[in-house]
Amino acid sequence: MKMLTLALATAAILLSAVGAQANPARDAIVAGFVAQAKAENPGFDGFSATRGEIFFKANQVGGKPETPSCTSCHGATPFTPGQTRAGKVIDPMAVSKTQDRYTDPKKVDKWFRRNCNSVLGRECTAEEKGDYLTFMISR
Ligand code: HEC
Repeated sequence: MKMLTLALATAAILLSAVGAQANPARDAIVAGFVAQAKAENPGFDGFSATRGEIFFKANQVGGKPETPSCTSCHGATPFTPGQTRAGKVIDPMAVSKTQDRYTDPKKVDKWFRRNCNSVLGRECTAEEKGDYLTFMISR
């Protein structure tokens, strides 16, 4: 019985270490942004979930006045659902809440382009995208 308990506990630890979030398609998307970030900035030294959180919640300038922040549509936190301008519900952005997030490169590219232009009036840099993804994957 003791052995079984130990084995179960070990399995639980291993599973939580690997994380429900591990996903090869998502890893490949992040790796692509690492390569781009290095090309854009030779001093690049890794993505930061902390910077990603600040970016997600910040009020930006340069974009459309009705969407100053990612949270304008995506809700105040990664765990809360959001809403499009037309009132359609958007599932939470945290990977722990919406498990198939950031697994389709075309979808990720399309929405980064569209949303960064709405909020910032420009495309996001690879570092901004990677920081954002690192934050959402950690949540
Ligand atoms: C005008 C509303 C709006 C704003 C503002 C907005 N988004 Fe979105 N975003 C959406 C919608 C709608 C979708 C697609 C629906 C979905 O994925 O559930 C989406 C999807 C995404 C996706 C793709 C998600 C996936 O599963 O692949 C990413 C990445 C994203 N948004 C990032 C951002 C970032 C970063 C910001 C801030 C710079 C932002 N969004 C601001 C409406 C918005």
